[in-house]
Formats: sequence, structure tokens, C-alpha cells
Amino acid sequence: MITIALSKGRIYKQALPLLSAAGVEPVDDPDTSRKLILDTNQSAIKLVVIRATDVPTYVQFGAADIGIVGKDTLMEHNGHGISELLDLKINPCRLSVAYPATASNCQKRQLKVATKYVNIANRYFAAQGVQTEIIKLYGSMELAPLVGLADCIVDLVETGNTLKANNMVEGNIIANISCRLIANNASLKTQHNPIMKLVEEMSAAVNAASE
Ligand code: PRP
Repeated sequence: MITIALSKGRIYKQALPLLSAAGVEPVDDPDTSRKLILDTNQSAIKLVVIRATDVPTYVQFGAADIGIVGKDTLMEHNGHGISELLDLKINPCRLSVAYPATASNCQKRQLKVATKYVNIANRYFAAQGVQTEIIKLYGSMELAPLVGLADCIVDLVETGNTLKANNMVEGNIIANISCRLIANNASLKTQHNPIMKLVEEMSAAVNAASE
């Protein structure tokens, strides 16, 4: 049995063609079903549909053998026992520092940083030797500098429209982000062949899509 963890919504929709290319078709639709474990056309493959931030946890502890998750979520989780197998090239964007266009710079002695990526921001600014006070938020990060809650933010930037609409500019890019296929390290050993078959078939689909 192989259990695949992924989140509802955009990631699920964009992952479906890749799973389909690997011969995996969900029987249930997570938008209409209240089931949390979805059957597929293959009796040996199940999907668990969970919150994006929980995907690395399920995979780390072996509750799911493989998972589909944003690189941002994976970097923030930073757990052991997980291998990143494939860049699925879904939802490409950047994880960046951003600040108000009116700010002279983002180089104060102690910077107030609003983000939901507390671990990533801590690691990034520590590596830069910048002292920070990290303020954890759960959404609408762009508001924080506008109301004086923070000097800058660490957040995802895709088109840049949200920053522009709030008179902010993108600073340093911390990482290029897209969805990744991850696996539990123990599952990689015990279920090596079926997992590698999925990886190869999904990889071929990713390459075909980017040609
Ligand atoms: C994300 C991100 C930015 C925005 C960037 O938010 O947090 O706010 O998209 O996209 P853009 O560069 O194309 O404008 P999302 O809408 O996913 O909601 P969130 O604030 O709850 O994370």
C-alpha cells in the first residue's frame, strides 16, 4: 500500500494530471466528498487530503509514504526523515523579502519582520548577520508594514501584483519555490520499486509539460 499526502485546492488540481500520467486516478472528489482517505483506481494507492502545512509531518512520521508539497512549506518544516525526489514545477513563485517602496532600506539594527515562515526568516536573517524580531502572521503579510507592525515581510511573490497594489517592492529572493514530490526515507527502502515507478512516470509528465 502506498499513501500519498497532498492538500486540497490549487495543488490538488495541478497534481491530478501528473498522478494521472502515473496511472493514478482518484475515485472520490475531495471537493464533494467528506472522506479524508480517498480511494484511487489502484487498490494499492490511497490519497490523504490534508492541510498543506501538515503534508511534511505525515510524510516524516510515515503516516504517508509520499507527499506533494510546496518547497516553502518543506523549508519551513525542516524535518528529518524526508527525501525530496522531484520538482513537479507546479505553482512556481519566489519566497522573498519585501518592504515598503518608501522605506530607505531594510538594514536597521533590529528589523521587525512579519511572516508565516518564522523558521525560514530566522535562518535567513541569522545567516546575513541581521538581528530581527520575527512577528508570526497567518496571512495578508503585506498589510504589516503599512500599519507599522513590521519593517518588512517574508512572503511568496508570484506576479508581484499584491506588492505593487500595496506600494511595496521585492527585495532579496530567499528561494525559488515550486511543488515537490517528497518521500518518507523508510518507505523509500521498503517500497522502493513502486515509489520509483511513480517518480519516473511523474517525471516524464513534468518534462513533457515543460517542453
Ligand atoms: C499569496 C502570497 C501573496 C500573494 C502573491 O497569497 O502570500 O500575498 O499570493 O501573489 P502575487 O505576487 O501574484 O500577487 P495568497 O493569495 O495565496 O493568500 P495568503 O495571504 O493567505 O497566503
